[in-house]
Amino acid sequence: MRDLPPFPSLRSFLDWCEATAQLQIVPDPVPVCHQMTAVHRAVLERAGPVLQFDHPVLAGGAKAAVPVVANLFGTPDRVAAGLGITLDRLDDLGAFLAALRSPAPPGGMRDTLSRWPMLKAALATRPKFTSSAPVQQIVSEGADVDLAALPVQTHWPADAGPLITWPVVVTRPHGSDVADIAAYNAGVYRAQVLARDKLIIRWLPHRGGAAHHQSWARQGEKTPVAIVLGADPATLLSAALPLPETVSELAFAGALNGARPRLVAAKSVPLMVSADAEIVLEGWVSPTEMAPEGPFGDHTGYYNPAEPFPVMQVSAITHRRDPIYLSTYTGRPPDEPAIIGQVFNRLALPTIRAQIPELHDLWLPPAACSYRIAVVSINKRYPGQARRVMMALWGMLPQFSYTKMIIAVDPDIDPTNWDDIAWALATRMDPARDVMLLENTPMDYLDFASPRAGLAGKMGIDATTKIDSETSRQWGQVMQTSAGDAAFAEDLVSRLMPGSAP
Ligand SMILES: Cc1cc2nc3c(=O)[nH]c(=O)nc-3n(C[C@H](O)[C@H](O)[C@H](O)COP(=O)(O)O)c2cc1C
Repeated sequence: MRDLPPFPSLRSFLDWCEATAQLQIVPDPVPVCHQMTAVHRAVLERAGPVLQFDHPVLAGGAKAAVPVVANLFGTPDRVAAGLGITLDRLDDLGAFLAALRSPAPPGGMRDTLSRWPMLKAALATRPKFTSSAPVQQIVSEGADVDLAALPVQTHWPADAGPLITWPVVVTRPHGSDVADIAAYNAGVYRAQVLARDKLIIRWLPHRGGAAHHQSWARQGEKTPVAIVLGADPATLLSAALPLPETVSELAFAGALNGARPRLVAAKSVPLMVSADAEIVLEGWVSPTEMAPEGPFGDHTGYYNPAEPFPVMQVSAITHRRDPIYLSTYTGRPPDEPAIIGQVFNRLALPTIRAQIPELHDLWLPPAACSYRIAVVSINKRYPGQARRVMMALWGMLPQFSYTKMIIAVDPDIDPTNWDDIAWALATRMDPARDVMLLENTPMDYLDFASPRAGLAGKMGIDATTKIDSETSRQWGQVMQTSAGDAAFAEDLVSRLMPGSAP
């Protein structure tokens, strides 16, 4: 089922990146404070390779012993590769995800499931528990724990301090069995380094990790947590992917890898962790202790205000003999999460189509923070259908709760092309008739443009061709050069202007 070789570890993926000329070693000393972000951003903007900073410089000026890898998923191709496939197989994997969500898959979806039998079977496969793991070659516990030895980046000038940006935070609910991996949650939640052995974990209240923490806190108990740093690419992406509740991220990663996930018992907390990761931070999250997290630069392009989040006491750090520290930045797009988001949005399309069959295509422009504006093309058959689609997106699909503006267009418009969108708005939309405004709908608390935190307006713009009772006017006919005339012109012009392209 995989198009690519298996990547059971971060380093096996890096080897593949090197073999395919997608890895750049940076031999220069680069400070982890601010400069590394600037270098990463400049490379990401050029759709450049994975960066391995061999000589990171710590905040105090000392050279770090651990190299930093950044820009791992800096191109859509590498995100797909991390999932084990090429970009052209995304629709297929997306259809599989849609089928997984559906309790009784309809006919078409059953075909999809049958086309991915290995993956389905792999999801039911139990992980492999091992007792000797590369990630535990070196173990520091208690007083030996020192987060300051890690080259954790401070990304932006007004950031509160060092921030771990690619942690896979592993938890399980209170009352679950350590060996019951199906009950585990793995999510990517940034973590602020507070002290040598203290972190703040910023799991937003609706996340899986926060729900597990609540289940322990209700019993007055601290939550065991393992933060996996430098996990294999499938685990990293599964932890960031909004998978159905019933699917364990660790099992899904194993299924993508085409191998049983290799897990080992953590040294100081009752959890199983990825045996082949680079580093694991183990510890306990207090049921009551909170600390102000931030401010930190975020995907909106602004600093988040400081907000209280729970504190984790780190009880052990385990790592390979020669670990690699994986990092990224979040900031005004483009950033790595925006690139990952583009791929995830393609994967989500079949799931959305299962709810809204008239949906032809969909684009969430990365420049609009990847979710605040959506452009949707629809196969329209009856008056008012564009508004129905907008309300379905806002009402049925949680991922559109914070989408402030939806623009609906016809299938002849490419929803990823701003020129096409502008033409549709200019020729198929009347502001007084085709704009729908809603008030007091849910909104991202990070959106300070909303009049009140968490509550804001929404706008739908219907830029589709108006049909039946939507208009009493004669609608215009789209002009088009015939295929024959276009071929004739292409042939002539390419001879007149060799090497030119439109
Ligand atoms: C680089 C990166 C950083 C992220 N940071 C956070 C964060 O700080 N807090 C958060 O709640 N989600 C964050 N996310 C999003 C979650 O990881 C993502 O929504 C995931 O699906 C949550 O998993 P869950 O549904 O199991 O909680 C981040 C994602 C990425 C890729």
